[in-house]
Amino acid sequence: MSSYSGTWVQGRPWCAIESDLDAGRRNDVNWTSPMNFSASYFAGEDVALIAREAFLKHIGDNVTHRYGLHPSVLRYEQEALEFITRLLNAPTNAHATVTTGGSESLFLAMNAAREQARELKPEIYEPEILLTHTAYPVFNKAAHALGLKVRQLTSSVDYRADLDGLEAAINKNTIMMVGGAPPFPYGVVDPLEDMSELALRNNIWLHVDACIGGFVLPFAEAHGRPVPVFDFRLPACQSLSVDFHKYGYAMRGCSAVILRDSKLAQYQTFSSDTWPAGDYISENMSGSRNAGPVASAWAVINYLGYDGFLERMLKVFDSMDLLTKAIDRIPCLQVHGQPQGVHFSFGSDELDMIAIGDALMARGWMMNLQTKPESLLLMLSAQHNATVVNRYVSELTEVSAAVADGSIGRQHNEQAYGIY
Ligand SMILES: Cc1ncc(COP(=O)(O)O)c(C=O)c1O
Repeated sequence: MSSYSGTWVQGRPWCAIESDLDAGRRNDVNWTSPMNFSASYFAGEDVALIAREAFLKHIGDNVTHRYGLHPSVLRYEQEALEFITRLLNAPTNAHATVTTGGSESLFLAMNAAREQARELKPEIYEPEILLTHTAYPVFNKAAHALGLKVRQLTSSVDYRADLDGLEAAINKNTIMMVGGAPPFPYGVVDPLEDMSELALRNNIWLHVDACIGGFVLPFAEAHGRPVPVFDFRLPACQSLSVDFHKYGYAMRGCSAVILRDSKLAQYQTFSSDTWPAGDYISENMSGSRNAGPVASAWAVINYLGYDGFLERMLKVFDSMDLLTKAIDRIPCLQVHGQPQGVHFSFGSDELDMIAIGDALMARGWMMNLQTKPESLLLMLSAQHNATVVNRYVSELTEVSAAVADGSIGRQHNEQAYGIY
């Protein structure tokens, strides 16, 4: 017996629904707001318009049917993948797949590593994945689903992966290790060259999570900024994830996983001929997928081209330098490590960072509050020009002075902690 009660939703005209939607959105943070330092990945109104228009043109199309019904979508995928495989120095025989987001890309890489280990290392009954302290939690989620045991470090060294800790944690069951380019917390690229060597020595699959940095670090490097080798130039790197819907500025729902060699694709692909409707072959976890995100990624790549990405990113690097230097000059505040991309965290040995974060949020600034150590994390995009940065710095200076003299304290704004 159903215990539902009350009346059914009654149909309403679009104008009533639209006004509800608009009213709802008025209480949300506008993603392009200059006061939003949470992940927004904005490159300017022109790019956002193109991303949106391309999305809308393909909003009714299903990527699953790209071979039969929508060959244009197949072409967008191939051309977008060509752009990023070149950008990330993948070998010409690499195999790349468009996915729905970073999480699916990580899942597919882990699945491929597990399948390969099942075939090549049958003596391993309890395969393990070795995670850094800052690895994205989806690695843990996927390990849970894939039956991989997680061995994870509980601290970082200078805000990067603890190399000695990794070496000590490797055992005969370790099949995979993960590094961030850069990871979300702190924004500092892991010691990937050393990790690659460690992985090679121990015959372990190295995955580079470049979901954030894949469209950032290549341009930093091209501009002569100090960036460690982070891509397929690392000999142990078997797979890499990169998100079109982050700094590739596509509308959400678009990422890629790249495998070093097309021979590895067999470990990613699932096929079945058991049902009556013909063979089912899939490289993805997801089934039906909207073609909008792929069209959007392709359109942005074609609008900006390599030079356009570089030009837009150089402006964000300018803001990044301005902001990090200014924060380091505020008494008692320090930027964590040496972030190479366009996001970073900062903290304090003396001041209550959560109180500072609460006060800034009360003034309308949005950012992530981190717990280990308590700190604020900022992600920069095109809306964060010098005027915005200077305003943030001046308000941060005021607020931190007020926290230092005890005139403001924590608000216990629980919803602001963490991102999920
Ligand atoms: C470093 C890193 N990897 C992976 C992901 C997962 O990406 P998505 O949210 O697109 O699934 C994120 C998300 O923020 C991330 O920061």
